[in-house]
Amino acid sequence: MTVRELQDEIVRLKKETNTAILAHSYQAREIVEIADFTGDSYKLSVDATKTDADNILFCGVHFMAETAKMLSPQKRVFLANKNAGCPMAEQMDREMISQLREMEPDRTVVAYINTTASLKTVCDVCVTSSSALRIVKALDSDKLLFIPDCNLGSWVKAQCPEKDIKLLHGGCPTHAAITAKEVKKAKEEHPDALFLVHPECVPAVVELADYVGSTSGIMDFAKKSDHKEFIIGTETSISEHLQYDCPDKKFWPVTKDIVCRNMKLTTLPDVYNTLKGMDSGDAFEILMSDELIASARKCIDEMIRLGG
Ligand code: 13P
Ligand code: SF4
Repeated sequence: MTVRELQDEIVRLKKETNTAILAHSYQAREIVEIADFTGDSYKLSVDATKTDADNILFCGVHFMAETAKMLSPQKRVFLANKNAGCPMAEQMDREMISQLREMEPDRTVVAYINTTASLKTVCDVCVTSSSALRIVKALDSDKLLFIPDCNLGSWVKAQCPEKDIKLLHGGCPTHAAITAKEVKKAKEEHPDALFLVHPECVPAVVELADYVGSTSGIMDFAKKSDHKEFIIGTETSISEHLQYDCPDKKFWPVTKDIVCRNMKLTTLPDVYNTLKGMDSGDAFEILMSDELIASARKCIDEMIRLGG
């Protein structure tokens, strides 16, 4: 079967099973092409609530499918590849954060959405990369613990000096691997390009940016800008998708090695097999108890209440 034939079969099966496919923008091109919704973590969690499909098939990593399930508990939610986890989401657990809460009960715990549902049950409010600064500024509390990403946390902290923000040593291995030396080299090679960066990168890289934002923020900025050349400081798929969307512009990844291995575990055959196996129990469905959903959702609802 060719890629195109498999894509056609997936499109037929998703109609037959009344399934909406949500794909994070770090997914490969052939998966983004068959998705109903694409974007960053925040956009996809909102999109999941908008669809009236019975089933959601997530092409991304585990915490994203969990978030979709929490926001649409009446739907069946499947993850296309059951091994696709986010290493950052696994770095801290509920016991560790509960202990820190006991030591400093007056600190509000702000959790990046890249955390497990179990960890969210002991946090006060969630943020995404697109909402982090806005939510932190909107919080009544001035004493915060920001987990798990110390790079995103440092970026927020730098713009919110009025708050006492404690950080822990966590973060995204893919983004944290980008170095300032690599960025400077890319700038030398493409002197007319603007540098757009994700705040999961280390502060020395973020400091070199012309624009800092979430995956969707970077894509929107590049599409709307009058500029013609961009160096992209996030997962390499973003440069590729932008090159398709804006053929008259040029997009250079800082290096070609900025690949999230977990995001790239998902293949078109995984999507096909999930659609085929939904009713036989062969697909990987996200199953969560009502208690876990109710408890973990509180910090997502708090994010939505404070303006998303
Ligand atoms: P956003 O998609 O929210 O920008 O986050 C990037 C990321 O690393 C997702 O895992
Ligand atoms: Fe997790 Fe980083 Fe991959 Fe996003 S890019 S899924 S934060 S490891």
